[in-house]
Amino acid sequence: MSSPDLSPYYFDLLAQFLRKESGIILKPETSYSVRFKLQPLARGWGFEGLNDLVEHIHRRRHNPEVVAALLNALTIKETSFFRDTKPFDVLRQRILPDLAAQRGTPDLKLWSAACSTGQEAVTLAILLQQVLPREHADRSVVVGTDVSEEALSRARKAVYSKLEVERGLSPELLRRFFEPVAGGYRASPALRRLIRYQSLNLVDTDFPMSQFDVVMCRNVLIYFDDKGKRGALDNIYRRMASDGYLFTGAGEDPQRLDSRFLRVLVDGLQCFRKAPG
Ligand SMILES: C[S@@+](CC[C@H](N)C(=O)[O-])C[C@H]1O[C@@H](n2cnc3c(N)ncnc32)[C@H](O)[C@@H]1O
Repeated sequence: MSSPDLSPYYFDLLAQFLRKESGIILKPETSYSVRFKLQPLARGWGFEGLNDLVEHIHRRRHNPEVVAALLNALTIKETSFFRDTKPFDVLRQRILPDLAAQRGTPDLKLWSAACSTGQEAVTLAILLQQVLPREHADRSVVVGTDVSEEALSRARKAVYSKLEVERGLSPELLRRFFEPVAGGYRASPALRRLIRYQSLNLVDTDFPMSQFDVVMCRNVLIYFDDKGKRGALDNIYRRMASDGYLFTGAGEDPQRLDSRFLRVLVDGLQCFRKAPG
């Protein structure tokens, strides 16, 4: 009988698999939390130990359901409404009004890449409602994408617990943009109409998407190695409008990895644009 624990050999096998599928790096020092996150999957699939689970995953590595279950288990989905505040102030006060004024038809396309359970996409939809005249907000779109089907399924329901809405939403925003439902609060139909969710792996080489005016890709590149980061950044670059903006998380620097991005400061906040030429 194999050990119930995860041996270094199987940890490495798992790490290689995850890196290939998602770009995510499993560092050896995270092995305790990896074990913890894999336990429910092992139990659910009837395996006594984690080595057996990883052996199974490895043997069935071409099966989309196996891949999806692993990504659901191991991705970190931490998020909140108006996370870090400042990017959303800058979008509301400067970037969205400027973009709308520059466009002949001011309907905007915003992308929350790695949207987790949707709080970032909902926040962007709130900004569209606050900034644009109604007819333009209604013709604009927020696309939320993530590699975790579990996160997307929650995002599509748009129902958030009391604790989740208290993280980032003022009572005024809650009243205006959410309705009380069983289990918490649901984003209003006006917000939900603006958002489309779709499954998307940022390190996949190709996916059909349009040109975005604003891309938020925050708190995800940190989990990738440089190769994964470069792949994701290339995907983003090709889907950004020529005068679009990219927001990353603090400490994530696209310009270091891809010189086609130019670091700019807008009201003191760092974001990235396409370099001229
Ligand atoms: C920490 S959350 C960040 C959520 C949100 N962007 C924020 O900053 O609040 C990271 C998200 O990245 C997603 N993710 C990880 N690897 C991914 C990949 N290769 N492609 C797309 N999404 C990925 C995870 O499923 C998770 O929902």
